[in-house]
Amino acid sequence: MPDKNPSYQKLIQEIKQCQKCPLKKTCHLIVPGEGNIDTQIMFIGEAPGAKEDKTGHPFVGAAGKFLEEMLETIQLKRKDVYIANIVKCRPPHNRDPFPEEIQACWPWLEKQIKIIQPLLIVTLGRHAMEKFLPGQKISQVHGKALRRTIPELGEQVFYTLYHPAAALYNGSLRQVLIKDFQRIPQVLKIIKKEIQKQKLQSSFSSQPPEQESLF
Ligand code: URA
Repeated sequence: MPDKNPSYQKLIQEIKQCQKCPLKKTCHLIVPGEGNIDTQIMFIGEAPGAKEDKTGHPFVGAAGKFLEEMLETIQLKRKDVYIANIVKCRPPHNRDPFPEEIQACWPWLEKQIKIIQPLLIVTLGRHAMEKFLPGQKISQVHGKALRRTIPELGEQVFYTLYHPAAALYNGSLRQVLIKDFQRIPQVLKIIKKEIQKQKLQSSFSSQPPEQESLF
């Protein structure tokens, strides 16, 4: 397998010098993302908050602590997965990122995904979900694994979760998020089984039909 690290390190340096949108002028540190670049699971949140902006690391505040707790329940640590955001700079006063900011930042995330090639992308919150599953409602797709073809990326499986920050102080959302989170290993197992099946099928005949929903 080729070493991903040189192209990954180069990309991170490029991201840290980005000037593509006005957020660069108001943020303190750009937060490119971090973790295991050989992981099978990539988590994608919304944008850095105050603590992330100060440290340059994603999900290090209260939402990050909650994310780490949930990772532990499925026997993972943050060093086992990759964590990034759809927007790499903190929007002023933690406002929602504007569509043009998400658009300007998209090539960075696209390149990160292309290098890492995760089996599963777990979106955290509505903004990350909308980037990959436009027109969907998070209340309807959370906890579901969906296979989609993204023009720049090809076929990819997405698993939508509520944002840990939204669930942190909302008891019922918190329970839903924890329950959805527990299914991540099962989703991965199904993806791996399907890959095996597709390999077998393609060694025999033509392409398998594209599936939209795994379950
Ligand atoms: N919320 C996010 O969406 N991303 C972070 O990095 C931190 C909080």
